Amino acid sequence: MSEDLHPGVAALAALLAGVALLLVLRRRGSRRPPCTAGWIPWVGAGLRFGKAPLEFIEQARAQYGPVFTIFAMGKRMTFVTEEEGINVFLKSKEVNFELAVQNPVYHTASIPKNVFLTLHEKLYITMKGKMGAFNVYRFAEQLNEEFHERLEDLGPHGTMDLISLVRHLLYPVTVNVLFKKALFLSYKKKTEDFCQHFQIYDEGFECGSQMPEWLLRNWSKSKRWLLALFEESIPDIKAYKPERADSMTLMQAVLDVVEGVAAGHSASCALLMLWASLSNAVPVTFWTLAFILSHADIHKTIVEGISSVLGGAGKEKIRVTQDTLKKLSLIKWCILEAIRLRAPGVITRKVVKPVKILNYTVPSGDLLMLSPFWLHRNPQYFPDPESFKPERWKEADLEKHAFLEHYMAFGGGKFQCPGRWFALLEIQICIILILYKYDCSLLDPFPMQSHLHLVGVPQPEGQCRIEYNERCDVLHDPRGPAPSRGATPPATHLPSGHQEG
Ligand code: HEM
Repeated sequence: MSEDLHPGVAALAALLAGVALLLVLRRRGSRRPPCTAGWIPWVGAGLRFGKAPLEFIEQARAQYGPVFTIFAMGKRMTFVTEEEGINVFLKSKEVNFELAVQNPVYHTASIPKNVFLTLHEKLYITMKGKMGAFNVYRFAEQLNEEFHERLEDLGPHGTMDLISLVRHLLYPVTVNVLFKKALFLSYKKKTEDFCQHFQIYDEGFECGSQMPEWLLRNWSKSKRWLLALFEESIPDIKAYKPERADSMTLMQAVLDVVEGVAAGHSASCALLMLWASLSNAVPVTFWTLAFILSHADIHKTIVEGISSVLGGAGKEKIRVTQDTLKKLSLIKWCILEAIRLRAPGVITRKVVKPVKILNYTVPSGDLLMLSPFWLHRNPQYFPDPESFKPERWKEADLEKHAFLEHYMAFGGGKFQCPGRWFALLEIQICIILILYKYDCSLLDPFPMQSHLHLVGVPQPEGQCRIEYNERCDVLHDPRGPAPSRGATPPATHLPSGHQEG
C-alpha cells in the first residue's frame, strides 16, 4: 500500500479535523458551570441544601470554584462569587430582576405575575423618589416623635428580649411614618394581633414564597388576616392628611400608582410594602445593638459621643437631626458593619439569554444568584472579614452616598433597595434615642444567627435579653456605661477614644 494519502482523503481529513476543532471550541464556549445535583430526580440537592443552605453554598464554592450551579427542587441556581460574575449579575441586560421574583411575589402577596410586571417599574421609581438620599431627611422629624412616644411605654427600667424591644419600637413607628399615623395601632388588642400575625408572616415568608399555601396553614392564616386588615384600611390611608401639607405618605403615593394601573391589588401591594419595610430593618437594628453592647469600648465611645453632642441627661425629648447624625458617624458605621456581617444570604436574577462568565455559559432559565453574606466574608474585599470593625467604614465616601466596594447588603444594579436611606436614618435615630435615654446591657451570650434562611437579613436564634435603666449623666460617671454581663465580645479593632466629630 502506498504511504502517500490520496489528495481527496487528505482534504476530507483536514475538513474533519477542522470541524472537530470547531466543535471543541464551541463546546468550550458553551460549557455549563459545574453542577451539584444529587441523585433524586427533580429534588436534586434539595434535601442537603435545605438543611443548611448557607453552608452548602460555601462548600460548593470550595469544591467547584467561583461559578457553580446548585440544582434543587426543579430549579437551577447558578452562583457567582467573583468579579466577572458579579459584573454580569449587576449590569448585564440578559439577566432580569422582575422575572426572578415574580413567582415569590405571587405566592407571598397574591399579586398575579402579569400585574406585577406591569406595576413594578412604576412602583420602584415612586419609592426611590420618596426615600432617595436627598429626600429622606423629611422623615426625620416624625421619626423622632414616634420613637419618643414608643420609648415612653418602656418606663424607667426593665428587662426584655432585645428582638421584642426592637419590634415594639419599629413596627408602629414604621407603619405610622410610611403608611398613616395610628393606622390600626390605635387600640391595644389590634396592635397585639397585628404584631403576632406580622411576625408569623415574616418568619414563614421564605417557605411561603416557594411552597403551596395549603401546606402552611398557620402562615396562610396570618397572610389572609393581614390582607383583610389592609383591605379594610385602604380608604383610611387614602383619606389621611399628613401634617406636612406638601407631602403624601409613601403608601399613599404607592396606592396612587397601583390604582391607576391595577385597581383591586392595593391590599396585596400594601402587604408587600409592609414586609419590605420591616423584615430587614428589625433584625439589622437588633444586630447593631447586640454588636455595640457586646463591645465595651465601642459602647463607651458611642455613649460619650451622644452625651457630648446631645447633652448629658437622658430625660429630655431631644431631636436627632441631620447635623446630629454627621457628628455621630460611628453609629452609622456600626449599622453598616452589622449589616455587612449579617447580610442577606442571596439575591437573585433570572437569565433571559445565555450569558458567558469566565469559561462557562450560563443557560437561559437559570436563576443567577449572588450571596452578599459570603461576598462580605471574602478577605480580598474585606480584610479580617469575621471581625466587627466599624472603622473600616472610614474609607467609604458616605457623604457622597457610596458604600464600600463589594458591599452588597442592599443589592445592586438597577433595582437596588429603594428603602436603604430610610432604613439607615430610622435605625440611627432609634439607636441614638435608646442609648441617650437608657443605660443598656445584654444579659445573655451574643446570639447565633439562624442558618436556615437565605432571603434577607438573618434572624437571631435563641434568647438575648437586654436590661435598660434610665440614664444619669455618663459624662460625669468616670466608669462609663455598665458592661454587658452576658455577651462575650469578639475582638474589636477600634482605636480607643475614637469618635468621629
Ligand atoms: C437595613 C435594612 C434593609 C436591607 C438590608 C434591605 C435589603 C434589600 C435587598 C438586598 C433588596 C434586593 C435588592 C436586589 O435584589 O438588588 C431589597 C429590595 C427592596 N427593599 Fe430593602 N432593605 C432594607 C430596608 C428596606 C426598607 C426600610 C424599605 C422600605 C421602606 C425597603 C424596601 C425595599 C423594596 C420595596 C425592595 C424591592 C425593590 C424592587 O422591587 O425593585 N427596604 N432590600
